[in-house]
Amino acid sequence: MKENILVIGGTGKTGRKVANKLVKIGHHVRIGSRSASPPFDWKKPEEWSEVLRGMDKVYITFQPDLAVPGALEAIEELTKQAKKSNIKKMVLLSGKGEREAELCEQVVIHSAIDYTIVRASWFNQNFSESFFLEPIIEGFVALPQAEIKVPYVDTDDISDVVVEALLNRKHNGKIYQLTGSRQLTFKEVIQEISEATGRKINFTPIALPAYTNVMKQQGVPADFIWLIEYLFSEVLGNPTNSEITNDIEEVLGRKPKDFSAYVKETAITGIWNSRLNN
Ligand SMILES: NC(=O)c1ccc[n+]([C@@H]2O[C@H](COP(=O)([O-])OP(=O)(O)OC[C@H]3O[C@@H](n4cnc5c(N)ncnc54)[C@H](OP(=O)(O)O)[C@@H]3O)[C@@H](O)[C@H]2O)c1
Repeated sequence: MKENILVIGGTGKTGRKVANKLVKIGHHVRIGSRSASPPFDWKKPEEWSEVLRGMDKVYITFQPDLAVPGALEAIEELTKQAKKSNIKKMVLLSGKGEREAELCEQVVIHSAIDYTIVRASWFNQNFSESFFLEPIIEGFVALPQAEIKVPYVDTDDISDVVVEALLNRKHNGKIYQLTGSRQLTFKEVIQEISEATGRKINFTPIALPAYTNVMKQQGVPADFIWLIEYLFSEVLGNPTNSEITNDIEEVLGRKPKDFSAYVKETAITGIWNSRLNN
């Protein structure tokens, strides 16, 4: 059956892939973003009912992160409006090991609408579509928590799980924790990217206060610095976040994409050499 599915953040790292996959198999997708028509802005709840109208299901990616102040209230309001709009299923993208995000999950869980929670580890794509890209292009990466091992997960796998959760009732009421199958330190990540691109990319460990001080000097907004501090301390500092889970294989019946496969296919796009190409 063809369904009407709202993909909030539908041009983003996971939403873009979820939307493409749903359209490919014949569903009708509405993108929820500030640049879509009608527009969806997390800061303008008075406009959400227009975006929810006529939709059967919703994939929710919150901006910038479910841990930030105000996220809980926004998710409460969205679920309230979703109920009014007769939404039948919600899939929420959450962050693995984020206590504040779990409060938002609880709102969805107790909404009386069918749901699946997809808690993801840090994405591979943070190195190619997000804030780690620029230093890689510059050839000089300095990051805190250098000794911590992260089981990075690919947005190809996340989007496959989200599509499956949206379309199959057997995932109702489930909380999935998605990780890749290998843990890597930042140094190991940069080494792999360096080898795949044939470029010399330096990695230097740096203390968290020194890292955020540089951001302050560069005029980065305070709420973004707060989020970075939170992600590097609360999330990366939580030892359970290094654990590898089996949930991707359980849902999709196949292994997660290996980090090396991600590096190989991303290197071919030239994104990590983009300054050299200019
Ligand atoms: N990165 C990670 O490692 C990681 C790990 C676990 C969980 N997560 C969670 O993933 C979520 C983000 O998902 P993602 O990475 O797939 O998305 P993303 O790439 O960060 O999302 C960008 C999308 O959000 C839209 N957007 C930006 N600001 C908006 C606003 N104020 N109101 C409405 N839409 C807005 C953008 O479109 P417009 O610009 O047109 O509005 C675009 O469609 C976050 O909640 C984060 O906590 C991330």
